[in-house]
Amino acid sequence: MQSKVADLIVILGTGGTIAGKAAQANDNVGYKAGEIGVEALIAGVPGLSTFRLEAQQVAQLDSKDMDFQTWRRLALAVEAQLTRDEVRGVLITHGTDTIEETAYFLHRVLAPRKPVVLTAAMRPATALQLDGPQNMLDAAHLVNDAAAAGVMVCVAGQVYAADQVQKAHSYRVDAFRGRDGTVLAQVEEGQVRWLSQALPGPLAIGTAALPTEGAAWPRIEIVLNHANADGRLVRLLVHEGVEGLVVAGTGNGTLSAALEQALLDAQAAGVQVLRSTRCDGGPVAENGRGLPSAGALSPVKARVELLLRLLGTPPQS
Ligand code: SIN
Repeated sequence: MQSKVADLIVILGTGGTIAGKAAQANDNVGYKAGEIGVEALIAGVPGLSTFRLEAQQVAQLDSKDMDFQTWRRLALAVEAQLTRDEVRGVLITHGTDTIEETAYFLHRVLAPRKPVVLTAAMRPATALQLDGPQNMLDAAHLVNDAAAAGVMVCVAGQVYAADQVQKAHSYRVDAFRGRDGTVLAQVEEGQVRWLSQALPGPLAIGTAALPTEGAAWPRIEIVLNHANADGRLVRLLVHEGVEGLVVAGTGNGTLSAALEQALLDAQAAGVQVLRSTRCDGGPVAENGRGLPSAGALSPVKARVELLLRLLGTPPQS
């Protein structure tokens, strides 16, 4: 049997500002995200007509409201598309606010060899200065690139690895950065210029490990070290039945004595704890004091990691 050429890009829409609408073209903040369907977004990008495309609307939400059920549906949709021989890769339109979490989730659940590129926009589709169409076009060129593999985020011409990307600015169009300054590639006039290589992906934990539709997911919260952190919030959360806690410590994941004791007590009571840092970059080194490090993961990515561990998957080495 002749195998099909893998030249098809599947675009999955999930909402976000990229699909947002404002009443006035000069309104960059008072808009509603997730209003325009993915087919209409594609039609608004003339350069996309050179690609063979299919589109599917998986969700239509503001990504501040992203939830576990949508993550599951998205992972299943991506997985289904990637198994098709003719599919070269998947492009996902998403909101900027939680794109870094979704990217890390897909990276750990699917660890795909084919490219899965998430893109977004800081301006709604009705704005004077549009970034969404160029971002979609850049993302399509990235999916099509021979060296592209794994889960990446492509925004403002920059390509970031799923485990490193983070939103670093609340307003600017180039709002993203790689943790510790890492950028995988740049997309310029349809050309992908690789600057570094993504590390080999983890083993996929697989979608079968995820709770079934409607079933409960583990409850995990993030707490912060700060002046006068007394640990009472941790004790309250344990009382409420929290199953996992990520602490965003100061510096090398350091914690006030009271917060550290509350977390050690939580751990002794069966709550899984990961220690990350509220700093914008750098890892957390193990300190031998009993609360395990989240490595170089940001607090929100450490929360995804802990979520997957609680679902029974081994930690990423
Ligand atoms: C969202 O994250 O859905 C809204 C904000 C954005 O996309 O920039």
